[in-house]
Amino acid sequence: MSVRAYTVVGMDPAIEAIDLVKRFGDETAVDGVSFAVPPGTVLGLLGPNGAGKTTTVRMMTTLTEPTSGTARVAGYDVGAEPDRVRRHMGLTGQVATVDELLTGRENIRMIGGLYGIRRKDLNALSGQLLEQFSLTHAADRVVRSYSGGMRRRLDLAVSLLAAPPVLFLDEPTTGLDPRSRSELWEVLRGLVAQGTTLLLTTQYLEEADQLADNIVVIDRGRIIAEGSPLELKQQAGRASLVVTVADTADLEPARALLARTGADVFVDTGARRLTATADGLDDMIQVAGWLRDSGITVDDIGLSRPSLDDVFLMLTGHRTTDDSEEVGA
Ligand SMILES: Nc1ncnc2c1ncn2[C@@H]1O[C@H](COP(=O)(O)OP(=O)(O)OP(=O)(O)O)[C@@H](O)[C@H]1O
Ligand SMILES: [Mg+2]
Repeated sequence: MSVRAYTVVGMDPAIEAIDLVKRFGDETAVDGVSFAVPPGTVLGLLGPNGAGKTTTVRMMTTLTEPTSGTARVAGYDVGAEPDRVRRHMGLTGQVATVDELLTGRENIRMIGGLYGIRRKDLNALSGQLLEQFSLTHAADRVVRSYSGGMRRRLDLAVSLLAAPPVLFLDEPTTGLDPRSRSELWEVLRGLVAQGTTLLLTTQYLEEADQLADNIVVIDRGRIIAEGSPLELKQQAGRASLVVTVADTADLEPARALLARTGADVFVDTGARRLTATADGLDDMIQVAGWLRDSGITVDDIGLSRPSLDDVFLMLTGHRTTDDSEEVGA
């Protein structure tokens, strides 16, 4: 088990996982996970389906008891002081929890009432949250009519009612279109700028890259890597240049051109696609020029950055999915 202290001297972590283990029958869903999140920073908990992300978050937010180990949130132990933990955190689950039949405003008021916020304060607060999450125009429509992005934003607004210093988000942007996703990222950056500590789970390296100060990668319940986004991407290796030619007959001449950069080239005949290691844009521009000069018609050309799959392949020797396609290196 690797434990890395992110703790800044004199500053207790806002979130701490201490050797968390969760078993369901014979299956060990979380197998000794430890990490620490300094206040005002973002930790991305990254992993494929079934890695143990939700189970870890559920243990840290008092929703399920660890088999062993513990966690601390805002300095309080989830086992010994669950009420205190709940009072200092917000949680947005993987599945939206807002009531479909109520309006956005009614949802906020209902949950706010449960938190014991006074009605007068709640009126002002709900207006403010709806505004902050760009939902004012839809505030009085039933949630059933909301788009996926609007639901996520409402969910997040609801979890912020109690102004928690620590926020847990379980796959906040899964299923959102790219625009809704980047809008939500903006909102989250704003919260962190105001001092919120954020733990978010994601399957997307890009999301962790956009938001996280530190990333913990888990697979099959264990931490397999951790570090800053930059550190992880460096581990995952160089970028790839990916070219799709229009005509299968052009694969071989295109391969020869790509090989001129000194790269290893992998040819996927079925997809009419060539993949080569590349250093960056300069390689791509050079290759694009050669392809044009040789009259090869290209359907698509681009640089592909190391993905979560690449990190996984490198770390574990298996891919996150059953995708059998291999990229030669
Ligand atoms: N209540 C439960 N009972 C039995 N097994 C469970 C339970 N909850 C989770 N598991 C198992 O624990 C493992 C981890 O699940 P978990 O939901 O934590 O993964 P995840 O990383 O959140 O995946 P996803 O990306 O699909 O949300 C899985 O193998 C899952 O089947
Ligand atoms: Mg999950």
